[in-house]
Amino acid sequence: MHAPTVLVVDDEQLIRWSLTERLSQEGYRVLEAATAAEAIERHREGVDLVLLDFRLPDADGLTVLKQIKESDPDTLVILLTAYSSVDNAVAAMKHGAYHYANKPFNVDDIALLVAKALETTQLRREVRALRASQAQPYSIDRIVGESEVMVRVRALLQKIAGSPASTVLLTGESGTGKDLAAKVLHYASDRAAKPFMNITCSALPEALLESELFGHERGAFTGADRQKRGLLETADGGTVFLDEIGEMVPGLQAKMLRFLEEKSFKRVGGSVDLRVDVRVVAATNRRLEQEVKEGRFREDLYYRLNVLPIELPPLRARPGDIPLLANYYVDTYNREFRKRVTGVDAAAMQALKAYGWPGNVRELRNVVERAMLLAEGTTLTLADFPAAAAAPVRLTEQVGLPAGGIDLEQLERSLVVQALDRSGWNQTKAAGMLGLNRDQIRYRVEKFKLEKPS
Ligand SMILES: Nc1ncnc2c1ncn2[C@@H]1O[C@H](COP(=O)(O)OP(=O)(O)O)[C@@H](O)[C@H]1O
Ligand SMILES: [Mg+2]
Repeated sequence: MHAPTVLVVDDEQLIRWSLTERLSQEGYRVLEAATAAEAIERHREGVDLVLLDFRLPDADGLTVLKQIKESDPDTLVILLTAYSSVDNAVAAMKHGAYHYANKPFNVDDIALLVAKALETTQLRREVRALRASQAQPYSIDRIVGESEVMVRVRALLQKIAGSPASTVLLTGESGTGKDLAAKVLHYASDRAAKPFMNITCSALPEALLESELFGHERGAFTGADRQKRGLLETADGGTVFLDEIGEMVPGLQAKMLRFLEEKSFKRVGGSVDLRVDVRVVAATNRRLEQEVKEGRFREDLYYRLNVLPIELPPLRARPGDIPLLANYYVDTYNREFRKRVTGVDAAAMQALKAYGWPGNVRELRNVVERAMLLAEGTTLTLADFPAAAAAPVRLTEQVGLPAGGIDLEQLERSLVVQALDRSGWNQTKAAGMLGLNRDQIRYRVEKFKLEKPS
């Protein structure tokens, strides 16, 4: 941070001198002007605060105040006047003056006033910069994809962001963009200026997760030596993102349900009901319906969460988006690594489109990142994508059904076995070769009772 700049405007040299002297001692950079014209000229040099005489030889202080505020509304102005009147004060405030002081003044008082005023602009600027830097990276167009399903997802996110909806459920495999969608939901909403709090339900043991979420009172448990506010309180007015909600233990599921229904909760060890206004965005890569059937997830909580479900499709279900995303990451890493790669050549793009992407967009991002780090040419080629180059061809209508028909189960079994063999029984890799996810291949391994050869 550079030192704040203060501009002292007064036609009396003695006043300019005493103020300049005092403010320089405070460590400010001080500029001086004796006339309105000079003041406006010097203000262009970048000034944080102006001490402005009400009466200047060539114009009155109010006119100068208006011009300064027009060119930079962030500049603070303190008007100095020897003719104090209520009218003057009202006019000064109406035109955006920060304060108004009477002559003769005590320089120490002025120095204090200046320090206080600068503190507020500093804060205001920091907050604004922070908001801008946080809001921009998560605008809705950060979600890349022109496939029909992604266009729909984006429209839905936009609509829900602007709605009063208090609960949203994001589902989709790992790497499909649930985190990203949650942030977009927050920053595209009128909650954007309030906190976005994020917690992964599987990362903490039950008791800790509970006190992170709801907070605790002093003495609630051993080690709780002071009261602590939970995420729900901290996020008041904003959004709480509960990632991997499918892993939340049943006891907490019940407390979460109560919160979602009543919008109130108690801190751990507390007896007071606290109310907050937060939007809860929950995400899971599990099939919650299945979890409910198998008794691992409360049905009532599932229905409460599932009011606004948004499903993020796996990447292999929208191969048309692969070139867009690949190029998006080429651009991103060109910037990050200061490279000038122009794109992905046709053969490599073909392979990227045919690959199964078990890790979805996250995997694509990592693959492009690696290629960009290692690439020597100006375009990325098959050699830069070893995993995708070894990928399966996407067979669609080209497979002719033999005249005598075929045993589909047997064909499926044979392909699964081949993929497992070829991947050395790495199920994730085998799944990738078959365009399946891990659950889907696991299901087939069980269905065909396949076992890893010893
Ligand atoms: N549609 C998309 N457009 C651009 N980037 C995406 C998209 N989907 C996911 N990503 C990126 O992929 C990575 C993984 O996404 P993330 O939101 O963490 O997935 P998830 O939470 O579902 O596991 C992140 O870097 C994210 O920015
Ligand atoms: Mg995630």
